[in-house]
Amino acid sequence: MQIHKLEKIWLAIGITMLFVFLGVLGVSAFAMGVKPPSEHHHRIDPSKVQETAPFNNPGLRPIGNLEYEAVMTAFTFGYAPDKMEIPVGSTVHFTVTSQDVVHGFAIPGTNVNMMIVPGEISHVSHTFTKPGEYLILCNEYCGGAHEFMKTTIIVK
Ligand code: CUA
Repeated sequence: MQIHKLEKIWLAIGITMLFVFLGVLGVSAFAMGVKPPSEHHHRIDPSKVQETAPFNNPGLRPIGNLEYEAVMTAFTFGYAPDKMEIPVGSTVHFTVTSQDVVHGFAIPGTNVNMMIVPGEISHVSHTFTKPGEYLILCNEYCGGAHEFMKTTIIVK
């Protein structure tokens, strides 16, 4: 089979363009640090979560009038802290990361629902306007005791 000379030229141009595009993609993704938008994520070493502030001391801290920051870690199969209590009307700013695998972070009855990825810090805020016992549940399958993975927020 004989390839026409013009076809060879076009083939060469096509391959060259492919490498040009791959090159542009590679340079922009790695050298220039262009990443998909992720406004709520910062990086962390997932193997050092328990030594990395603020996750070395998970818990609820007041940061204003009826305003709290909840620093939390997710792990197989639970969350730290395992219980929190806040007054009605409180706004909680959750700062969460995972120590091991991908977990979920959902509070049924609210719009809080996020994925907790190891190596990333996720943020979500919620104002608890009704008293009650709120569960934080894992909605990403993470292993044998996945369905028992939860923690509680008591609002009163
Ligand atoms: Cu953690 Cu499912």
